[in-house]
Amino acid sequence: MSAGVRSSSWTALRRSVVWEGLQDALEALGEGPLAVVDAGGGSGGLAVPLAELGHRVGVVDPSPDSLAALERRAAERGVGDRIVGRQGDLSTLPELVPSGSADVLLCHGVLEVIDDPARALAAAVAAIREGGMVSILAANRMGAVLARALAGHPDEALAALEDPAGRWGRNDRLARRFDRPALLRMVTEAGLEIETVHGIRIVLDLLPGSMADADPEVTDALARLERAASRQPVLGGVATQFHVLARRP
Ligand SMILES: C[S@@+](CC[C@H](N)C(=O)[O-])C[C@H]1O[C@@H](n2cnc3c(N)ncnc32)[C@H](O)[C@@H]1O
Repeated sequence: MSAGVRSSSWTALRRSVVWEGLQDALEALGEGPLAVVDAGGGSGGLAVPLAELGHRVGVVDPSPDSLAALERRAAERGVGDRIVGRQGDLSTLPELVPSGSADVLLCHGVLEVIDDPARALAAAVAAIREGGMVSILAANRMGAVLARALAGHPDEALAALEDPAGRWGRNDRLARRFDRPALLRMVTEAGLEIETVHGIRIVLDLLPGSMADADPEVTDALARLERAASRQPVLGGVATQFHVLARRP
């Protein structure tokens, strides 16, 4: 358990497995600052910590409000010189980021909210250099089925299971969720080689946040459990999200 997770919030705990996997992948790419593009990076929840590690991060997001929040957050944390926010979207990324110029492309929480994710991802991959990495975090349909059922909404759980897009109802804020084979096929068809797939938030999203906030030992135990469970495909099958790390050959 890292000190960062121990001392921080439930949100940080929920992000810990992704953050650790991403840091390992970045370290494997070599020493020194990397050029990272965070597509749909929003207000910089990941971009700012990456800039704090010394990396140069370009955030491409369609939301002007998020980009303004990103600028404020980067300035507050003293990394404004290493982060550039640009208004745009995943499918038009090649117009903003020169082909082959990025070491790493992040696409977290985006494929489930946009039109035609397969086309957008395939277009965006051009931004990465050969040998560069893509980190994808995408919603898992089966996670929603379990979560809606345990929240006392079996009708919505069934809807998520039966809807081709994996949505549980009209108020669902996501446009779709992925089944593992379809997500991995999309990544491969974008021209990427898959390196790792982890299940993210397997038990955390089924528990009240107060559980971790109340007791640091419980927080530690939950982080260790999530890390170990993320590597088990059966448990990962009901995670809230999949974290896919893939390489451009
Ligand atoms: C759920 S948030 C994820 C934010 C951040 N990546 C994270 O993991 O915390 C989805 C983000 O995708 C952005 N977004 C929506 N449509 C997009 C598109 N077509 N291309 C890129 N980003 C998009 C939204 O503005 C928002 O910042």
